[in-house]
Amino acid sequence: MSKKLWGGRFESETDALVERLGESVSFDSRLAPWDIRGSIAHARMLGDCGIIAKNDAKKIIAGLTAIGKDIESGEFLWDLALEDVHMNIESALTKRIGEAGKRLHTARSRNDQISTDVRLWARDQVDTVIELLRALQRALLSFAEAHIDVLLPGLTHMQHAQPVLLAHHVHAYIEMFARDEQRFSELRKRVNVLPLGSAALAGTPHPIDRQQVAKELGFDRVSENSMDAVSDRDYLIEFCADSALVMMHLSRLSEELVLWSTPEFGFIEIGDAFTTGSSIMPQKKNPDGAELVRGKTGRVYGDLTALLTLMKGLPMTYNRDMQEDKEPAFDAADTVQLCLGVTAKMIPSIKVKRAVMLAATREGFLEATDLADYLAAKGLPFREAHEIVGKLVLLCTKSGRRLPELALDELKAASSLFTADVTKLFDPMTLVKRRDVPGGTAPAQVKAALRRASKRLR
Ligand code: ARG
Repeated sequence: MSKKLWGGRFESETDALVERLGESVSFDSRLAPWDIRGSIAHARMLGDCGIIAKNDAKKIIAGLTAIGKDIESGEFLWDLALEDVHMNIESALTKRIGEAGKRLHTARSRNDQISTDVRLWARDQVDTVIELLRALQRALLSFAEAHIDVLLPGLTHMQHAQPVLLAHHVHAYIEMFARDEQRFSELRKRVNVLPLGSAALAGTPHPIDRQQVAKELGFDRVSENSMDAVSDRDYLIEFCADSALVMMHLSRLSEELVLWSTPEFGFIEIGDAFTTGSSIMPQKKNPDGAELVRGKTGRVYGDLTALLTLMKGLPMTYNRDMQEDKEPAFDAADTVQLCLGVTAKMIPSIKVKRAVMLAATREGFLEATDLADYLAAKGLPFREAHEIVGKLVLLCTKSGRRLPELALDELKAASSLFTADVTKLFDPMTLVKRRDVPGGTAPAQVKAALRRASKRLR
């Protein structure tokens, strides 16, 4: 009858639709390299512990290595009827080396096997994401350093607030991605725990050596509870949650790049390689790269929601529902890696129109806070100073002027504390330089922050 590795107690075939429902090999075949690594470590341990013959272990290891090469070269034939990556590889092994292949699954279940595979996979994804996050931070750092003297209006509520250094603005994103990097480093510790040896749910009567397997596979420790180990998917949920945060940060950066590329802002031009034209409007240069990164964010939020919902209310221990964890996790990993890669490449392509940015700092009364601070420094309570400058802004809006265009007499009429030296506040770089507190936008502070980032990243 069937070639199913679990077929013993069955008298008739699986329904064709159930087979389609149950197969995972169409998506979990990508776990093959990690499945094979885990199986090789398991087989070696079985041989070393005398659970199977050393010679059988040797044959298994050689067979698995050869199968790994077939898979890599694309020669391996995946069979949906064999359900998943595990049984495809195990059947191929037995076909290849005979009897010995049937001993590989001693002291093991697919329940601890899949969790081991996915943890090995997730650990590599975490390492890749950390590398990509660091590369993006380096790209942002170089960009900030190359534009260290560029000013632009800082916004709150999308309204002009106070002038800032572009490098300060960009450094804000370096901080976001640095936190993301930390989150993934923390996650790595929780991923790096070996579930193998838990078997189906309760452990195994065979005298296995879990430490040996952990050591060969580079796990920091072995899981403490077999029931938890086969049913824990926290690490995948965390992977998606951490990825969702990265995407959220990328979407904010993307949004700013889109806005800054509009004629209304006109602050930047993104390189041709990261923009596309329109099939009807010849003049168009659309910031598709940034838009797509912004759009992909939703997928990763979806992946996180899918995994949280999948695991909600599942009783102990392994339940087949959990097979549905793969596609969201794969999608989150692929998406976050692609988007980090694209953004890191896009940043150096950006041309900054510094004159437009500087001109924008002259609009929107960016000096207002400093005028109030000026009066406060001369002893006026800040609330009163705020009120006086508010009235000056109103005077400006009514007469179509900017604050620097007010006559000294007009300022003096508003407050006798104004003297001629107030005009020094009408230079945006002066305003920036005045914010010389740790974390502030003064060039000295920003340069020091960039130096610290450089030490961490280069
Ligand atoms: N393909 C399965 C999964 O991804 C492997 C574990 C199957 N275990 C089982 N008892 N049917 O979850």
